[in-house]
Amino acid sequence: MSSESEPVPPGKEWAAAQRRQNRGGRDGEPSGRGLSGAVGGTSEERVGVMQVDPSSGLDTSVVHPARRYNYWLDGKDNFAVDRDSGDEIAKIYPSVRTAALHNRAFLRRAVTYLAGQRGVRQFLDIGTGLPTADNTHEVAQQIAPECRVVYVDNDPMVMTHARALLTSTPQGQTAYIEQDLRDPDGIVGDAAMSVLDFDEPVALMLVAVAHFVLDDEVLAWAVAALRDAMPVGSYLVLSHATADPVDPVVRAAWDQAVASGRHGDFKYRSKEQILPLLGDWRPVPPGLVPVADWRRPAVDPVPFTDAAAYGAVAVKPRPRAR
Ligand SMILES: C[S@@+](CC[C@H](N)C(=O)[O-])C[C@H]1O[C@@H](n2cnc3c(N)ncnc32)[C@H](O)[C@@H]1O
Repeated sequence: MSSESEPVPPGKEWAAAQRRQNRGGRDGEPSGRGLSGAVGGTSEERVGVMQVDPSSGLDTSVVHPARRYNYWLDGKDNFAVDRDSGDEIAKIYPSVRTAALHNRAFLRRAVTYLAGQRGVRQFLDIGTGLPTADNTHEVAQQIAPECRVVYVDNDPMVMTHARALLTSTPQGQTAYIEQDLRDPDGIVGDAAMSVLDFDEPVALMLVAVAHFVLDDEVLAWAVAALRDAMPVGSYLVLSHATADPVDPVVRAAWDQAVASGRHGDFKYRSKEQILPLLGDWRPVPPGLVPVADWRRPAVDPVPFTDAAAYGAVAVKPRPRAR
């Protein structure tokens, strides 16, 4: 397991402090980390009104992306601060719920494709979010019950719901790790100690999480380190919010809302900024495209503005012979 001082690239020491803050633990202390199945509430507590254990270290006064996303997806695991932020963003960008649903549908299609057509049996899902319909292990294990899935998230509240996620087919396995995307060594170390075998291809999933990392250099470094740790034949599943199709007036309002600090960290990126996150991995057709267009059956087209995010699946090639 990694220590707090390990993960940051040179000159990015601030990131460690930011991660501690994100965890929301008291006095910046982590409220629990590492491999887990033991922390948190029962599935009964997840239904109905949110209950907060005062000893949990959860900060209910600060918006968390997992809880706001849960609100947009009609979940119940959110607080007033998350709903207020969600509503304010929806006022600026009314299709935000549609976008969230299309992002989830992209995740489903990508996992179905990888488990069904590419024979992938291991998934490392970073930025898991709160349990919802069609979690990665459910989609994958429906196709191949022996699939093994490691969930990673930096939100302690997601951790409290780990038990719900940790269900698995008897043939497969799931594990949950409280870690941060900006700590790739910690993630890979913990994942290897749990259920993943890094001698076999892994689907590295970064679905709607990279846009919460503000620093371009840190993001590029972390994603490259994760790519490097994966064996040949692994896949990267990436989705990322963008303002490319968004009206400049809406974009200006977004910028203002983000700058207000009320909505937490968020940074949309252009296609040109997102594409390099794939490194030299080869995108499978149709490449990096609007999420709603990625291998979606030919039904009604979804305007890009309604789901302003890019999605791609790319495969790690064999190194070129010299
Ligand atoms: C919008 S949700 C996406 C959930 C799921 N991947 C999906 O696409 O449906 C983003 C998730 O990323 C998590 N997250 C944000 N920043 C993170 C970071 N630096 N490291 C790990 N998880 C992070 C949030 O806590 C949240 O659960």
